[in-house]
Amino acid sequence: MSIGTLLTPLRVGAIQLPNRIVMAPLTRMRAGANNVPTALNAEYYAQRSSAGLIISEGTAVSAQAQGYPSSPGIYTAEQIVGWRGVTSAVHARGGRIVMQIQHNGRNSHSSLLPNGSLPVAPSPIPPNLPGFTKDFQQVPIEVPRALETEEIPVIVGTFRQAGLNAIEAGFDGVEVQGANSHLIEEFLEDGTNHRTDAYGGSKENRVRILLDIVDEIMAAIGPDRVGVRLSPFGQYGGIRDSNPLELFTFVIQELDTRRISYLHLVEAKGSEMGLTDELHEDGVNNAALFREVFNGPLLSAAAYTPQTAALAIEQNHADAIAFGRLFIANPDLVRRIKESQPLNAYDRSTFYGGGEHGYTDYKTLEEPSLTASI
Ligand SMILES: Cc1cc2nc3c(=O)[nH]c(=O)nc-3n(C[C@H](O)[C@H](O)[C@H](O)COP(=O)(O)O)c2cc1C
Repeated sequence: MSIGTLLTPLRVGAIQLPNRIVMAPLTRMRAGANNVPTALNAEYYAQRSSAGLIISEGTAVSAQAQGYPSSPGIYTAEQIVGWRGVTSAVHARGGRIVMQIQHNGRNSHSSLLPNGSLPVAPSPIPPNLPGFTKDFQQVPIEVPRALETEEIPVIVGTFRQAGLNAIEAGFDGVEVQGANSHLIEEFLEDGTNHRTDAYGGSKENRVRILLDIVDEIMAAIGPDRVGVRLSPFGQYGGIRDSNPLELFTFVIQELDTRRISYLHLVEAKGSEMGLTDELHEDGVNNAALFREVFNGPLLSAAAYTPQTAALAIEQNHADAIAFGRLFIANPDLVRRIKESQPLNAYDRSTFYGGGEHGYTDYKTLEEPSLTASI
């Protein structure tokens, strides 16, 4: 295994990555008023611009799609302007950034939604997680409202518009959030989807919303700028399917046919949301399992070290590896990997909410001193 494997270039759709060290999408709950990104957010992303690719935090495609306090959106003119500050700062530092666009579905709370309305989902089945109010209070979760059939094409349209808005805001592409038990995965899996209309029942029906979204966005912004994140065998929020292997093989075959620019799989061996440091070594290796099914670039995430990441690429399980918690704590992760320098430890207590502390104040390596070599 050679760490140098991570430092080789890779083409991902329209984007040329100088290395295979990707920054995973990370919700940090530090957006400004009206869910608008700020200069602080721009600084945070710019600090990490040496990543082969930055995937933004999950960003709501509509007011109804919000799920966490102080999380950004991409559905107002003000938000587009705020995000332009982020993308310009990343590009000015030579980086590349795509936006993860998402609808939180049942993982939300009425205090975050227009007119205090209930979170929505395919079926009225609550997750097994507490909700976060807009004031960061943890509260018992609400039973979501099942979407009416005619509301679903409207949601598809909000994803399409979010894709267009992301490009207008200067992003290099988008990643559709189909993972981690948010709305799309709630449709995919039969534990959360008990519908009897064209969006429930057979796997073909359950995958319809995802494929409609992908088709619409690809038509709107071009086929080579759309990636998809999935978390087969994941259990976050109590999500489950009676036959995940059959379901995800089908989903991934369909995405392969469409030639999306990349597939991003969350590994079941780690904690999908990085909530614990536990490892389930006996968990399914999604990248290895689905590699045969998908012919485009494959990104894999969750619980990787630089060493296991390089190994996964050398074993041809994946083309690039996304790091979450290591990028929170190491803005210059690429340089540290390249120079085999020690990594900063992350502080879990500052993951969500707050300001600069635990966000933009993790230390980078000192530049080599000019006097040191004299
Ligand atoms: C603070 C935090 C926020 C996260 N937010 C998102 C998110 O917005 N979208 C998403 O798909 N995954 C999210 N995740 C999951 C990460 O992208 C990643 O899959 C997970 O942390 C496992 O990778 P790691 O072991 O390298 O941290 C989040 C994880 C953490 C720790």
